[in-house]
Amino acid sequence: MIRIKTKEQIAKMHKAGKLLAACHRELAKLIRPGISTAELDQWVENYLHQHGAIAEQKGYMGYPYATCASINDEVCHGFPRTTPLQDGDIVTIDMVVNLDGWLADSAWSYAVGNISEEAQKLLDITKRALYLGIEQAVVGNRIGDISYTIQKFAEGHGLSVVRPFIGHGIGQRIHEPPEVPHYGPRSQGPILREGMVLTIEPMLNLGKHHVKVESDGWTAKTVDGSLSAQYEHTIAITADGPLILTEQEIAD
Ligand code: MF3
Ligand code: CO
Repeated sequence: MIRIKTKEQIAKMHKAGKLLAACHRELAKLIRPGISTAELDQWVENYLHQHGAIAEQKGYMGYPYATCASINDEVCHGFPRTTPLQDGDIVTIDMVVNLDGWLADSAWSYAVGNISEEAQKLLDITKRALYLGIEQAVVGNRIGDISYTIQKFAEGHGLSVVRPFIGHGIGQRIHEPPEVPHYGPRSQGPILREGMVLTIEPMLNLGKHHVKVESDGWTAKTVDGSLSAQYEHTIAITADGPLILTEQEIAD
């Protein structure tokens, strides 16, 4: 069953989302060659605590950290580590903020120093794919309209769409129905209704779409070693169109 949220509940999720967005804006300033994802993770956990919030991912299904930090060919759920980031890396930081019991979820890919042209293309197209998907999140459309739009755009630019990790409903728990794949036919799946809150979070690869999970049980990587990027927002379906609860205001 898809849980419909009231305007008041969406306002609470928006508060969590605004805090999450502010945290990403601060992270953007910290990310540079030489800093480690373990340091960033600790910084995020402190920042959220200082603002009266909880890093919801920590302890979720046994996940051990506040953030997921996925570098280069890591697709998602990477463990923060003490090895410093290097010039030319790309890193995706994903986090879920719990503020007064209501959640928001957003991942963002960052360039570390100077990155290659193809890495920059991957970041640009992945972000545009997210926003094109969000445009489809209107009352009366179906989940498949989001999925189809993202896949068509990504593959049209020669990138591939990761299959096993998908968007989801969210509220007082990280994962609620419905599932939001970033691939598949249009006009299929649940109809979008006012008050639904979803994540849209495409992971796109420069090479093939296949992924494998490492022996730590979490870190997903591309099988072919190609770079992978991800942008994720939490959005509410409203009568006035999609409302991005985790919007960062400043274009990146
Ligand atoms: N933020 C992730 C998502 O977008 C959830 C990560 S699950 C965790 O669905 F356990 F790794 F935290
Ligand atoms: Co997330």
